[in-house]
Amino acid sequence: MKELEIKTLIKVYTYEELSDEQRMLIDKAKESTSLSYSPYSNFAVGAAVLLANGEVFCGANQENAAYPSGLCAERTVMFYANANRPNVPVKALACACYTQGHYTHRPGSPCGNCRQVLLETEHRYGQDIEILLYGEDEIYVFPSAKSLLPHCFVDDDLRG
Ligand code: THU
Repeated sequence: MKELEIKTLIKVYTYEELSDEQRMLIDKAKESTSLSYSPYSNFAVGAAVLLANGEVFCGANQENAAYPSGLCAERTVMFYANANRPNVPVKALACACYTQGHYTHRPGSPCGNCRQVLLETEHRYGQDIEILLYGEDEIYVFPSAKSLLPHCFVDDDLRG
């Protein structure tokens, strides 16, 4: 028997410690919470992606009376960006959550399905996607989608 250990390094920043580009993307994610359609959870999530060509796309969670038909902010914006710029890698994604009249104190974290979608894009272009998770008290920065979803399933695994 042997053991394999997976380690993930999360950098924890204050807003002031971020670069101008990171702050811009966080600001867009915060603004995008106003685009949320979330009458069922009243939990608004905004997401913004920075593409390798400098363009920024924004999105927000979209809920549905048939609950599973809704979609998280992260997948909404990733599919939006990939569908409109199919050949442009994604450099970074930021997200922010707003509920009960304020942004959440702790950073929200992408769900498992969103992590898998982020990973697909990262793997497809061979370029790491930096993930910025906004909280009022602290901001988490992950260097890549893979660091959020280690020991993951990608297209190579389909080949056995
Ligand atoms: N949600 C997101 O948009 N992103 C996440 O990372 C977690 C959850 C949404 C789904 C649903 O509309 C609401 O937040 C409550 O779960």
